[in-house]
Amino acid sequence: MSKYIIKGDAKINGEVDISGSKNSALPIIAACILNGGVNTLYNVPNIRDTNGMLEILTDLGCKVIKKKNKVIIDSSGVNKIQINEKLMREMRSSVIIVGALLARFRKAIFSYPGGCEIGARPIDLHINGFKKLGINIDENTRYIVCKCDKIIPAEIQLDFPSVGATENLMLASVLSDGETILRNVAMEPEIEDLQNFLNRMGAKISGAGSNIIRIKGVKNLREVSYNIMPDRIETGTFLCFAATTGGKIELNNVKDEIVLPILAKLEEAGCKIYREHNKIILDAPKRLKAVNIQTLPYPGFPTDMQSIFLATLITAKGTSIITENIFENRFKCVPELVRMGAKISVSGSSAIIKGVRKINGTNLIATDLRGGVALIVAALRAKGTTIIENCEFVERGYEKLEYKLKKLDIDFTKEG
Ligand code: UD1
Repeated sequence: MSKYIIKGDAKINGEVDISGSKNSALPIIAACILNGGVNTLYNVPNIRDTNGMLEILTDLGCKVIKKKNKVIIDSSGVNKIQINEKLMREMRSSVIIVGALLARFRKAIFSYPGGCEIGARPIDLHINGFKKLGINIDENTRYIVCKCDKIIPAEIQLDFPSVGATENLMLASVLSDGETILRNVAMEPEIEDLQNFLNRMGAKISGAGSNIIRIKGVKNLREVSYNIMPDRIETGTFLCFAATTGGKIELNNVKDEIVLPILAKLEEAGCKIYREHNKIILDAPKRLKAVNIQTLPYPGFPTDMQSIFLATLITAKGTSIITENIFENRFKCVPELVRMGAKISVSGSSAIIKGVRKINGTNLIATDLRGGVALIVAALRAKGTTIIENCEFVERGYEKLEYKLKKLDIDFTKEG
């Protein structure tokens, strides 16, 4: 297990380039299975999650070549329809591969993804959607076996706008014979990126970004090159790093319209924000003001930014209330933040944060990806040095974090 050692009392002042989106890259990598050809992806973040997804594709028979952030995936040799159980357990979002396998081979076998650090994360919406597409699902053994003679186009109403279920159903129906309509779908920008990628392949999909998506099935999909969009959660994270330290930051390679819910809360907290083409500049006050936040599906405030923002507010002036509406277990970093001197109490799905003037560096343990980054936010503001163990969680989603923080003159070291 490795750890981060961070010297506090920092003041960020500098520039950072934002990497490609993790949550966009993952389904797009899975979608490369669809056409049985050679696809080239650019701006793929080199992080544990994308590498895990590529490992699963390799196990299925794909040839993968990585050159920095360029990834070439040749899926002509896929010779398995069963997703490796061990790899699947490590990579929950690998469930998206099922949709791609079903579209191409009409069959997929996988094990039920286990629980996860931020909540139960069931896949009932994916399974129910598959059933509506005429796919037979046998859940009676250790594996879930999905098969059909052909995908039958359908109208599917999701009970909740699940990001993963929306993506899986888009992939499963892209090569069908007729039109599938998905209602109450997730409207996240990553869904739009997936639509753009699939349409470049020759798919006929419209509506991503709204709550109804129409997929007109096509017979074949061609080989493509595609540039993954910037990561909106990494963008928000670096803005919070600067905001908590009363600093100034300039972010390059960003897409400002997809982070508006985050920018709105940073402005409410007292930050000045300037937006230019592909660039966001944030200038933070010495001390932030308290704000209230509720997580919601896009275009609401993203659940992935919740613990990061919570940590940003622990030294704000006043009392903030954060309500988590998407995942049940996303306050796991709170006890660690309290050990630093933060005044936070959790009641049901809400956390009440009474702003304190000072917190102290200490030894902490990360328990999940975004919760781990929340600890870094607090460490930057704290007096003294903070050591964060289990930083592997953070590496699932942040590319070159050490390099980027050092470039901002932060005393940040990784050990182990
Ligand atoms: C994706 C993101 C994750 C983000 C989340 C919500 C990826 C790789 N991950 O996760 O970073 O936090 O969206 O924005 O893109 N649910 C069910 N049944 C299902 C599916 C989901 O009950 O079949 C519930 C989940 O338990 C959760 C909520 O729906 O409470 C949202 O989940 P979902 O949108 O599916 O999240 P993911 O796709 O897993």
